[in-house]
Amino acid sequence: MECNYLNYHGLPLPRIAHSEDSLKYFENFQVNDDDVFAITYPKSGTTWMQEILPLILNGGDFTPVQTIPNWDRVPWLEETRAALVMDTIAPPRVMVSHMPYNLMPPSFYSSKAKVIYVARNPKDVMVSSFYFHQMASFLDDPGTFEEFIDKFLEGKVLFGKWTNHVRSWRNTDLGDRILYVTYEEMVEDLKGVVRRFADFLGQKMSEETLEQVVSHCTFNTMKTNAMSNYSLVPQEVLDKTKSAFLRKGISGDWKNHFNPEHEKKFTAVIKEEMKGSNTQFPWDDD
Ligand code: A3P
Repeated sequence: MECNYLNYHGLPLPRIAHSEDSLKYFENFQVNDDDVFAITYPKSGTTWMQEILPLILNGGDFTPVQTIPNWDRVPWLEETRAALVMDTIAPPRVMVSHMPYNLMPPSFYSSKAKVIYVARNPKDVMVSSFYFHQMASFLDDPGTFEEFIDKFLEGKVLFGKWTNHVRSWRNTDLGDRILYVTYEEMVEDLKGVVRRFADFLGQKMSEETLEQVVSHCTFNTMKTNAMSNYSLVPQEVLDKTKSAFLRKGISGDWKNHFNPEHEKKFTAVIKEEMKGSNTQFPWDDD
């Protein structure tokens, strides 16, 4: 493991946003029954959820999404900002996390907190991550696309292996506390997905508010929101000349990057590691 990362139970976590203290805070965090978590493997739609969920939970008040950066509006529970901003978040609190199920804080399991788990086609996650590694000075250089495929498949990237993350959250004791959605469904039918989120979270939304929320959370609109497009992060930390954070916002971009050998190798590894997980994804037959 290189020095850009902390090793947390075998997972590489970028030091820029994680510390011994932030991880202690995470472990000791007291989860409330009305807390809401969006859980993702990195590059699967976290920023998108940080935009959508506050709007659903506050009845369509656009002030927070227009005035508070996404990382303080809906903090990552494991990151250093969490302890600084948690007190400023009105209940029901919304948080994001990239942690696998088995590493959640003890109070999470016994609470009634709800979880939305967003999964994305791992090939598109990998492509998105490749560009993110190029722009982020706090991550290791991704190397060539070919080299990055190996790093990704071996879990030598932030938060380790995609397959471990997805499997951990597909096999929980959470019952109806968890809702599964895919990034692809969100791209395909954002309105339907936002309605599902609102129902799951017990929030009534008028058709008019629903339309407004959906229109605010489209890729093109989010790209222009300085509170969500990472333009507030200094250039030396996130180099926007290398890639935009909100880069393409589509499903299937992997087809523009993988050659047939990449595809074969990648699919074989993911298939093997997902065996016995009882999980069907829309991209399994891609
Ligand atoms: P791409 O790099 O493929 O464009 P995360 O927030 O978990 O880091 O995920 C980032 C990915 O989600 C990026 O994917 C980003 O463009 C995409 N994304 C963020 N907001 C989106 C939106 N409103 N619509 C579609 N994709 C979005």
